[in-house]
Amino acid sequence: MLRASLILLSLLVGASLGADYVRACYFTNWAKYRQGRAQYNVTRDYMPGLCTHILYAFGWMSNTFQAINNDPTDLPTSWAPVGQYAQVNALKSVDTNLKTLLSFGGASFPLWLLQQMASTSANRQTFIQSAISWVRQNGFDGIDIDWEVPQLSDKANYAAFVTELKAAVTAEAQQSGKARLLVTAAVAAGSSNMVGYDMTTMGNALDYVFLMSYDFWGAWSNQLGMNAPLYPASTQTSPNNQYNVQWAANAWVTGGIPKSKLVIGMPAYGRGWTLANAQSIQLGASGNNPAPAQPFTQEAGIGAYFEVCNLLAAPGAQRYFQSQMDVPYLVSGGQWWSYDDVESFNDKLNYIKTNAFAGAMVWALDQDDFNAQCPGANGVYYPLIGTIAQSLAGINIKGHNGPVQPVQPVQSVQSASSTKASVVSTKSPFKTQPPAAVTTQKASQPSTGFSCTGVVDGFYADPSSCASYIWCLQGVPNRFTCQPGLLYDSSLKSCNWAAQVTC
Ligand SMILES: *[C@@H]1O[C@H](CO)[C@@H](O)[C@H](O)[C@H]1NC(C)=O
Repeated sequence: MLRASLILLSLLVGASLGADYVRACYFTNWAKYRQGRAQYNVTRDYMPGLCTHILYAFGWMSNTFQAINNDPTDLPTSWAPVGQYAQVNALKSVDTNLKTLLSFGGASFPLWLLQQMASTSANRQTFIQSAISWVRQNGFDGIDIDWEVPQLSDKANYAAFVTELKAAVTAEAQQSGKARLLVTAAVAAGSSNMVGYDMTTMGNALDYVFLMSYDFWGAWSNQLGMNAPLYPASTQTSPNNQYNVQWAANAWVTGGIPKSKLVIGMPAYGRGWTLANAQSIQLGASGNNPAPAQPFTQEAGIGAYFEVCNLLAAPGAQRYFQSQMDVPYLVSGGQWWSYDDVESFNDKLNYIKTNAFAGAMVWALDQDDFNAQCPGANGVYYPLIGTIAQSLAGINIKGHNGPVQPVQPVQSVQSASSTKASVVSTKSPFKTQPPAAVTTQKASQPSTGFSCTGVVDGFYADPSSCASYIWCLQGVPNRFTCQPGLLYDSSLKSCNWAAQVTC
């Protein structure tokens, strides 16, 4: 009884403290260059309440250790007069609790340059002072270090660097009278990549540690595996049973990072293989070939969630759920994809709450279905990051209606037969690049009074109803109906909130 009351009490306290969880979202400065539905304009596409911290990827450094921009559009240019630094920092006027950090580094940043910077106290001070002025000048609230990844020989220098960085921002705050800049780092989750971290020192110096608990398996692994399993599978032995969120988080806690500073990373993307043998789809089956590059992100073996949703919608696609590892995977057209969805995000979020970690981090804003254009999206914007907002802070992002999320039919690996994975809704409000599956939808009815003969393939308003639209494909009309509350907006070529549509 006492125990039950204590659990209830802690649940209530946990709920009331929900707003205090960190919900950090990476923003990538290159997603604005994508085409069509994938183009991410942070001013247009960010929604207040979505994140508590935006991590801007990436800040850069010159070979004399000066902080610089990485892309011309970070700063104002003659062709893009509002720079992306300013666009991101302007979000704080509409989302008043939001903090922004500039992330220096990233997977493509030259390691030797970071090593040189950290190798002497003079070089460290040069970069630290330059970075502080740079983030202040551009309106950020902190500095995030994404050194991927320090080696054993870097351990002492990396520790000195973060310690001196913390001392410098503390001194700067006293001198400027401004709130102290936050100091954080993104860190590796693979056991073999942890040798360069002095975790005790990091636990003292850093405000938060963002665990990159994804990329555990990919086409480089030579076998099919999960991008971001929460737990190991019972069939896995060492070291494969270390490649999961739980093992990595425990390693960092054991190493000296307080749980209240450890933020668990979650991927809004999947990793895929081209199957060598279409019948060998079990975990650990051999797999050397990456899946083909996807239409928008254009990199073999990896796909944004908004691309994975189209793979799921293809004819014959099957979704499975690996219940021990708590992640879905899909098999479609000779490809095998490990990915995360609302179900696995909810499981990871429950794990974060149960274990009292600091919160969740997601890579990245632009990878989610940020504009609700996946087949069957039903007007849910940011299905994944919105789930974080809802679970950790009780905030309902557009289209998310309360704590219970619709969960797709689950195919457990324990059961023998497979079921159809995901259903393409004939009411989906997608607009651009609909999946080929749509052509097979018998449910779409030919429109009356609209002819696609001699018409360019694409979407057209339905003259007989504001709530419907016609997709002309090779001269054949396919009629779709928007979700309740939405009408077809000719200017967006998409369903939109009724109040915003003139029809
Ligand atoms: C981004 O969105 C804002 C707000 O909708 C708009 O004013 C701006 O022109 C857009 N920028 C680009 C480059 O499309």
